[in-house]
Amino acid sequence: MGSTETSARRKVLVVGLGYVGLPLAVRAAEAGFRVTGLDTDEQRVKRLEAADSYIEDIPDERLLPLLDSGRLRVSTDYADAGTFDVCVIAVPTPLRDGAPDLRCVKSAGRSVALLLRPGAVVVLESTTYPGTTEEILLPILEAGSGLRAGDGFRLGYSPERIDPGNARWQLENTPKVVSGIDDASLEAVTEFYDRIVTRTVPVSSPRTAELTKLLENTFRQVNIALVNELAMCAGPLGVDIWEAVDAAATKPFGFMPFTPGPGVGGHCLPVDPSYLSWQVRQKLQHDVRFVSLAHEINEHMPEYVVGRIEGGLAGLGRPLAGARVLVLGLAYKKNTGDVRESPAATVAELLMARGARVRAVEPYADARLLPPGVLCVELTEAEIATTDAVVVLTDHDCLDYGLVERHATYVFDARNRCRGDRIDRL
Ligand SMILES: NC(=O)c1ccc[n+]([C@@H]2O[C@H](COP(=O)([O-])OP(=O)(O)OC[C@H]3O[C@@H](n4cnc5c(N)ncnc54)[C@H](O)[C@@H]3O)[C@@H](O)[C@H]2O)c1
Repeated sequence: MGSTETSARRKVLVVGLGYVGLPLAVRAAEAGFRVTGLDTDEQRVKRLEAADSYIEDIPDERLLPLLDSGRLRVSTDYADAGTFDVCVIAVPTPLRDGAPDLRCVKSAGRSVALLLRPGAVVVLESTTYPGTTEEILLPILEAGSGLRAGDGFRLGYSPERIDPGNARWQLENTPKVVSGIDDASLEAVTEFYDRIVTRTVPVSSPRTAELTKLLENTFRQVNIALVNELAMCAGPLGVDIWEAVDAAATKPFGFMPFTPGPGVGGHCLPVDPSYLSWQVRQKLQHDVRFVSLAHEINEHMPEYVVGRIEGGLAGLGRPLAGARVLVLGLAYKKNTGDVRESPAATVAELLMARGARVRAVEPYADARLLPPGVLCVELTEAEIATTDAVVVLTDHDCLDYGLVERHATYVFDARNRCRGDRIDRL
């Protein structure tokens, strides 16, 4: 990593202060850059101004000294940003009616273009299909700034690998793929990230970097679907899928373990592979069959889980309609409060649609974001003893699974956390 002396003279603008942009803005400020973070969400900016972080991996204590010293400023107004040496765009890239929705990237591009000055660097970090940086962002920046990409300003793409809740692999120590539209851009983008992370991995074009990100997430989506499909077959074949995965994982080469669960969620896996298949369909009139199949299998998992719970209760002579079900975890990922596209929330909704009375233990998520009708409760002996089924959907480490094992009459465990006679595992 480079010296903080050089960084201190340089101004960085981070557009979009979410799971990706906020850690980057904080890291850049800690590396010595003068950072302005922009977000159109007033609530988020107000919270940041008060050093009140909404991202689990960024504790308030990290924000406070940066805000106090002025090394990090946040605003909703592009007019506050002034000029910049480096701008990173990390705005959402969701799907709309199954197609990429690049409205945030385009609107951020239009705003950034007005602040561009000769020699500055713009990097897109939002996940997107190959060609976005050069075909969508570049013309917007040129039109708004009157400068030419390459000679006038530098432009590149660098995908994010943030893994929320992962204490071992953080922004700083995770290798970062970098790219530029030409040699000078690649050099400028690499030079910036070399001050932020321990290792940069240059690739030959923004398209390659864009596809790299989609490859990584499609790889996860497909492998999770594979193990989910095997989980649905293993039980009837008299095999414990978890034991088989653990055994296969002892192979020191050519295998990587993925575990089954109630489906995939979050901002990335349900969305990113569709960016790839959409573009391949548009440009090559070809279906990426792995993506379609994986999507279909993972989408089916909540329904499958509810079917298993219904079957388990029926075996005890209890109908699902009217049963009291205690769901453990509604976030899509353990130890986080992120409920975006969470399959656990879908399971809760399906249970309620079939007449179950659903209560949930979810220690991290904002209760206002949970499915309407779900009552949030604490995990207590009395709560467990008065429920017909306990369902483990998100295996937050802070939950007492021993208490569940001791007091529940029936448990459906989609995460392999409980042991005992009354435990029905996925
Ligand atoms: N969350 C992850 O773990 C993760 C990992 C890798 C890549 N990504 C990708 O990174 C991008 C951002 O994801 P995120 O999870 O940080 O999203 P997020 O929703 O948490 O944050 C994005 C922020 O951008 C703001 N925004 C939208 N339009 C804006 C504009 N024109 N100007 C300024 N701010 C604007 C929103 O208000 C929001 O606060 C997406 O493309 C996503 O796919 C996310």
